[in-house]
Amino acid sequence: MSENTVSLSLDGKEISLPVVIGTENEKALDIAKLRDETGYITLDTGYKNTGATSSGITFLDGELGILRYRGYDIAELAEKSNFVEVMYLLLNGELPTAAELATFESSLAEKSVLPAGFEQVQKALPAQSHPMAQLASAVCMLSGFHDGALAAVTDENINTIIGNFGPLSANIQRHFLGKDLVPADGSKGFVKNFLTMAFDEEPDEVVVDAMDKLLILHADHEQNCSTSTVRIVGSSHANIYASVTGGITALWGPLHGGANQSVLEMLEAIKADGGDIEKYVAKAKDKNDPFRLMGFGHRVYKNFDPRAKIIKKACDNVLDKLGVQDQSLDIAKKLEEIALSDDYFVSRNLYPNVDFYSGIIYKAIGFPTEMFTVLFALGRVPGWVSHWKEMRLRKEPIGRPRQVYTGATLRPYADLSGR
Ligand code: SDX
Repeated sequence: MSENTVSLSLDGKEISLPVVIGTENEKALDIAKLRDETGYITLDTGYKNTGATSSGITFLDGELGILRYRGYDIAELAEKSNFVEVMYLLLNGELPTAAELATFESSLAEKSVLPAGFEQVQKALPAQSHPMAQLASAVCMLSGFHDGALAAVTDENINTIIGNFGPLSANIQRHFLGKDLVPADGSKGFVKNFLTMAFDEEPDEVVVDAMDKLLILHADHEQNCSTSTVRIVGSSHANIYASVTGGITALWGPLHGGANQSVLEMLEAIKADGGDIEKYVAKAKDKNDPFRLMGFGHRVYKNFDPRAKIIKKACDNVLDKLGVQDQSLDIAKKLEEIALSDDYFVSRNLYPNVDFYSGIIYKAIGFPTEMFTVLFALGRVPGWVSHWKEMRLRKEPIGRPRQVYTGATLRPYADLSGR
C-alpha cells in the first residue's frame, strides 16, 4: 500500500488524513486519528462506505463484476482448481505444490474424524430444528471436545475445524432426515466423503464436480456480513469455534446466506401460483409489499455477480447429466429475463447473485431446502478461517465501533408514585 494525505478543515482547524491505496488502486482515508484530532467520528450505518480493515485474501470489484482469491480469477479457479486446493490458497496465500497439497489433504482426512462422544451432542439436538441452528450449536460445542489453546492460530486448530466441518454437516442432514449418524471416511477426500455420508452412497462424479465447483464459488467474499462477524468475534480472542459460530449465525439471515433457501421457496411459490412471474416481479417492485426478489441484488456487485453466471451455466449441465427436469430452473431464467428488462431492477443495479441459481443444483443433487445454507457455510468456512487467521496474525485490536448518541439527555430519577 502506498500513502499520501488529504487535508480536512473542521471548525476552523485543518488536519491531514493519510490516504491508503491498495494494490488494485482502491483508495481510503485513514481516519484512525480523526476523533483525537477533531472530536468528530464518522457515521456510516451498514458500512456502505467504510473499510473495516485492509486484507490480502480476496479482491472484488462490484462495478466490473470481478472476484479473485489471492489474485486468481474465480472463473479460472472454478474451472481448473478444486475445493481443497482453493482452501489451501485462501489460508496460505499461494497455490500448493503437490507435496503441500498432499500434506494438507491427509491432515484434513485425519481431522475428518469427529471427536469421541460428539455424536451425543448432535443426537441431543432436536432433529426437526433448522439445520443452521444445529450447525451453530454443534460447531460451538466442538470447542468442548478439542484440547489445547483453541484461540491460537495454528494449523492444528485450522485443519481440525475445517476437517470436522464436512462430516458434522453431513450428519446434521442425516439427523434432520431421521437417519442414524455415520462415521467419516476421510480417505475418500473432503467432498466425496461429505456426499457419501450425506447420501449413503458413492456419489456420481457429476455430483462431486458440481459440489466441488459450488464450494469453490462460496469459499470467500472479502468483508461480507458473516466474515466481518467472524473477524469481530475473533478480535476479542474468542476461540476459533466461537468465532466461526458467529459467522454461521450471521450467514443464516435471509438477506445473506439464508437467501439460497428463500430463493427456492420463492420459485416453488411462483410455481404453485400457476407460474405467474409478472405478479411476483410486481410484488418485488411494490414499496408497500415486503416481498423481495430473493437471490437478486447485492451490497457490492452493481453488475452481474460472476459466481451467478458460472452457477447458471452449471445448472444446465448438472441437471442435464443427472436427467433432472426442474420447472424451478425455467422459472428462474424467465424471472431473470423479465427483471433485467425492467427499469426498476436495472436502475437499481439489481442482478442475480450467488444465491439465485445455487439452490436449483442443490435440489437436483437431493439436498433438502433447509440444508442449503449449511452448504453455503461449508463452502465459506475456509474464507472465514482465513480472515480470522489474517486478523489474529496482524494482532488487530478488538473491534469496537463508536456511535452518535441520540437518546434522552440527563434527567433526575422519577419515583414510581410520581409517574
Ligand atoms: C449474499 O456481501 C456479500 O458479499 C454477500 C454474499 C457473500 O458471498 O458473502 O455475496 C452472499 O449474501 C448475497 C445476497 C443474498 N441476499 C439476497 O438475495 C436477498 C435479496 N437481496 C436484498 O435484500 C438486497 O439486495 C441485499 C441485502 C443483498 C443488498 O441490500 P443493500 O445493498 O442494502 O441494498 P438496499 O436494500 O439499500 O436496496 C437498494 C434498493 C432499494 O430500493 P429503493 O429504496 O432505492 O427504492 O434496491 C431495492 C431496495 O428496495 N432492492 C430490491 C432488492 N434488493 C434491493 N428490491 C427488490 N428485490 C430485491 N432483491
